[in-house]
Amino acid sequence: MALTWTHKDRGEVRVHENSDELSTDLVDYIAELSEASVKEHGVFSIALSGGSLISLMGKLCEPPYNKTVDWAKWYIFWADERVVAKNHVDSNYKLAKDELLSKVPVVPSHIYSMNDTVSAEEAAVEYEFAIRQLVRTRTVGVSEISDCPRFDLILLGMGPDGHIASLFPSHPALGLKNEWVTFLTDSPKPPPERITFTLPVINSASNVAVVVTGEAKAEAVHLAIDDWQSPGSPLSLPARLVQPTAGKLVWFMDIPAGSKLDGLKCSE
Ligand code: 6PG
Repeated sequence: MALTWTHKDRGEVRVHENSDELSTDLVDYIAELSEASVKEHGVFSIALSGGSLISLMGKLCEPPYNKTVDWAKWYIFWADERVVAKNHVDSNYKLAKDELLSKVPVVPSHIYSMNDTVSAEEAAVEYEFAIRQLVRTRTVGVSEISDCPRFDLILLGMGPDGHIASLFPSHPALGLKNEWVTFLTDSPKPPPERITFTLPVINSASNVAVVVTGEAKAEAVHLAIDDWQSPGSPLSLPARLVQPTAGKLVWFMDIPAGSKLDGLKCSE
């Protein structure tokens, strides 16, 4: 059974015995949000990240979810993407397609992937334009506060340095206010060229989940949750800046990733 508590400023924290238990809870959470969103506004707009997150979503391809989730109502996006060909091993699109989207009945035209035939800058502009069209038709909601798109769910992983999506420590992209999607050509995590949602878009979502496993990330988890207001530049740890303005934040982690959390230490 997960250890769960609500942090007064940092949302809900769920610490699981292991990644298998985490995965079970994560897909339950996603399926519930999908059902609630489809009931409320007829569609479910979800943005994925890359990395280990996708394998932790694998149980969505199994019963009961592969039958009970209203896949035809899903609109799928990427919170970040590497600027490589869609069939390249580094492609987040390829990862999600191979491990999830090709195994469930999503509608192909509802999958919004990056244009892999243009430069990083053009790809970012095109991706933002595509999202603006969907906001215009209200396929993707809009935030009353920021006029940013209001995705039903944005799923994020986090690096040991506290990066989320492709927003890295002390990177100028963290300061962007007006762009919805930006590009970078100097990512410290290979490959160097990427496109990524900006913080205003991430923080305008109805739901944001950060999914983290492994001890290598324990310090960053502690800094992002317990120590999020500590002096020193908040830009140094992007996960600290994940603060949905009118949305719900949930952290999914295993015990090694949560091992430095005050909440976990108190529970021992
Ligand atoms: C990417 C990701 C990135 C990822 C973290 C965590 O494209 O690289 O979107 O933000 O989520 O680096 O990756 P892991 O979970 O694999 O450690």
